[in-house]
Amino acid sequence: MNVLAIETSCDETALAVVSNKGTIHASTIYSQFPEHAAYGGVVPEIAARTHLTKLPTLLEKTLGEAELSLKDIDAICATAGPGLIGGLLVGLNYAKALAFSLEKPFYSINHLAGHALSVRLHETVAFPYMLLLVSGGHTQLIVVHSSSRFTLLGESRDDAAGETFDKTAKLLGLPQPGGPNIEKWALSGNAHAYNFPHPFANESHCDFSFSGLKTAVRTCIANTSENEKANIAASFQRTVAEILYERSCQALATCSIQKIPVKSFVIAGGVAANNFIRNALIKLEKKFQISCIFPPISLCTDNAAMIAWACIEQIRDGSATPNMRAAATPRWPLNQLNREGTTK
Ligand code: KG4
Ligand code: ZN
Repeated sequence: MNVLAIETSCDETALAVVSNKGTIHASTIYSQFPEHAAYGGVVPEIAARTHLTKLPTLLEKTLGEAELSLKDIDAICATAGPGLIGGLLVGLNYAKALAFSLEKPFYSINHLAGHALSVRLHETVAFPYMLLLVSGGHTQLIVVHSSSRFTLLGESRDDAAGETFDKTAKLLGLPQPGGPNIEKWALSGNAHAYNFPHPFANESHCDFSFSGLKTAVRTCIANTSENEKANIAASFQRTVAEILYERSCQALATCSIQKIPVKSFVIAGGVAANNFIRNALIKLEKKFQISCIFPPISLCTDNAAMIAWACIEQIRDGSATPNMRAAATPRWPLNQLNREGTTK
């Protein structure tokens, strides 16, 4: 079975064809950085229009790379949420129209389920496992019990980790996306030059907070010279890595208290591309006797292969059923997987 997936929840227009055996026949992405660069952030209306403009050519490209035609596609799915409503509507309706015209089943998929399951497209990871999802929009610690059952242990109460990288980069005068640029500058800086706050350091819950860190960096920049950029970037990055490590320790300790037998710790989302953060998190292996799994970066960041794979896994476990009336659902927490909206 070949599944065609469409992902348009934010500023990446992505398509993929994946087989039920886990072969990625093709995975294509158009990143809308040029369209949003002048505005310093994603403009929802521009994102939706760009998805609409790019989808037809990307579909052709995807099928070309897969060396398949539409008649080889057995099912079609799209991200229905969470995400920006305009982009979700474009992707969902494009996918539904394709499914209707080809007389194929259509499935609506949760973007976070895509992130949560993408590692299993790369290697066999047994359930249950702990997932740290760190992207531009989410910072969450999730127990993945199965393809369709998830427990959210903690999340950011304000900014997401990736968003904090992006905002800090802006404060430092570095271009977007901020994460990779801060990582680059941090290479030549002293990570212990400054001490920034660790919110909730002594608390036993698994939530995050990053807005205080951003404010501390702003104050630091205002009180230091231009040539402190690398030191500030390195100290900021160290602090984020420490916060992610501390909260992950808390989540794994919670699993141990609640006797949830997680054997692996998986990281997903764009921030998972950061090598300094990967090196900080690998220490969890020894402390908790688990294996840390860092999937390839192409599967960590937004892509449609993870949406196709979540669809395949959820068809297999019976939690996904064809639904031409699925609605775009901008807020769709993972623990409400079976409650996606339905159009009238
Ligand atoms: O998962 P993603 O591609 O898109 C979503 O937000 O869903 O994540 C994008 C985020 C951006 O905030 C970007 O700055 C961050 O991931 N990012 C990084 C790195 N590469 C991307 N953050 C830190 N270090 C990196 N190397
Ligand atoms: Zn994402």
